[in-house]
Amino acid sequence: MSGSRGQFSSRLGFILAAAGSAVGIGNLVAFPVVATKNGGGAFLVIYIAFVALICFPVMLGEIAMGRASNKNPVGAFYALSGGNKFWGRLGGLAILTPFMIAVFYSVITIWIMLYMLQSASGNLDRLAEPAAFGEIVSSPTLFFYMLITMAIVFFILAGGVKGGIEKAAKILMPTLMIMLIALVLFVLTLDNAVEGLRYYLVPDFSLINSTVFRSALNHAFFSLSLGMGILITYGSYFSHKEKIVNATRLVAVMDTSVAFIAGLLILPAIFAMNPNVDVQTLSESSVSLIFSYLPQVFLEMENIVGYTGASILATFFFMLVLFAAMTSLVSITEIPIAWMIDEKGYSRRKALAAMGLVAGVFIVLATMSLGMVDRLSSMVTYGGVNKSFFDVIYDLFYDTILPFIGFLVCIFCSYRWKRSEFMQEVGEGDESYTTSLLASYVNLSLGTFIPVVLLLVFANNVAQIYFGYNLLGF
Ligand code: PHE
Repeated sequence: MSGSRGQFSSRLGFILAAAGSAVGIGNLVAFPVVATKNGGGAFLVIYIAFVALICFPVMLGEIAMGRASNKNPVGAFYALSGGNKFWGRLGGLAILTPFMIAVFYSVITIWIMLYMLQSASGNLDRLAEPAAFGEIVSSPTLFFYMLITMAIVFFILAGGVKGGIEKAAKILMPTLMIMLIALVLFVLTLDNAVEGLRYYLVPDFSLINSTVFRSALNHAFFSLSLGMGILITYGSYFSHKEKIVNATRLVAVMDTSVAFIAGLLILPAIFAMNPNVDVQTLSESSVSLIFSYLPQVFLEMENIVGYTGASILATFFFMLVLFAAMTSLVSITEIPIAWMIDEKGYSRRKALAAMGLVAGVFIVLATMSLGMVDRLSSMVTYGGVNKSFFDVIYDLFYDTILPFIGFLVCIFCSYRWKRSEFMQEVGEGDESYTTSLLASYVNLSLGTFIPVVLLLVFANNVAQIYFGYNLLGF
């Protein structure tokens, strides 16, 4: 059965594919910026605690659901609840979410491709100008790069699980690590880099407030590709002979390490280039600010390595992000495809075509909502801010919904699917886990305090983003 749906050839295949999904723009670009504006070291501590204590058990829940049911998210919720339609429908949220994430993630990936090409062709100075981002995101050439991006993603997906996803991840992931470490070593040799290191590594807990908590949890979910059906689907390709816990731990550690290393690159670079940087000026930072800031950081390196050197480094960096983004994009796109194959009976090819068509339309609309078409660019106003179509997707599917789906997974694994079966699935073939302290922690927390925290964060996301009101009051 599993053979016909595709299966990873080995544990390493699963780990690389899951890590390829997890490591992306979120780690390399968003994490350092979110960390910078949310208190540096204090954010780092909270982030790591969330990954270990909250996200890790939810990851186990998702992967176990996938492997036990051998299905996509809708099929998994449906089958494991004994054919309950309500849960099946809720599982639909874990199809819609990766679809919408694929849309805004594609838009950002296209920008990255453009930034890489512009840096490579000697235009780093132009990219560093404040107006550059606005010009790039509203330039019609984006549609050309959109076609290239989609062609690469669909080409990889056409190869299926083993030939496509796994093969791409096996080449791209190690290359990425080597490139990243080389860049960090360079940045750490710069004067003042140490100031950035201090801000990043020495926590100042007075900087903690509820936004730091909210941002850390939302970002941890996004970064681990959690709460969006990806791990359920990848779990369904995971062999019953392998141990879930070890593989999951490795994925979590790899993802967090890459984010951490990206922080070692970006934070010291920011401080080295501008020793008096006021991190508060980054406090309004959004996706767009990240993009105007990065080229400036690289351009500043001109003094040390010359313009050509700086351009090469920037090209190198954007290429690295592009690699990571591609593997992530492949994984998000796979979820709706797996759903169409399982639930709608489509062939892989037909599912790819359907996905390409529908996603294509949304990507075009999202791209046009950044200055090209007024009605899309200022579509609605909430929380006192005017939002574009792109912003709406981003707010809803990056910043709001993920903890809610995580909450559903916890409730489902603990109270709807038989808890004994969940425990057995996680511990299959893994004696040392079943009797461990970790197992007791997972079994206890998944049905108690983890869903409470997730629901609280979700409620506060809604209150803050849509109503400009802080429920938690600190
Ligand atoms: N986790 C990826 C990142 O950090 C993004 C991603 C999101 C990948 C959703 C798959 C699904 O960039």
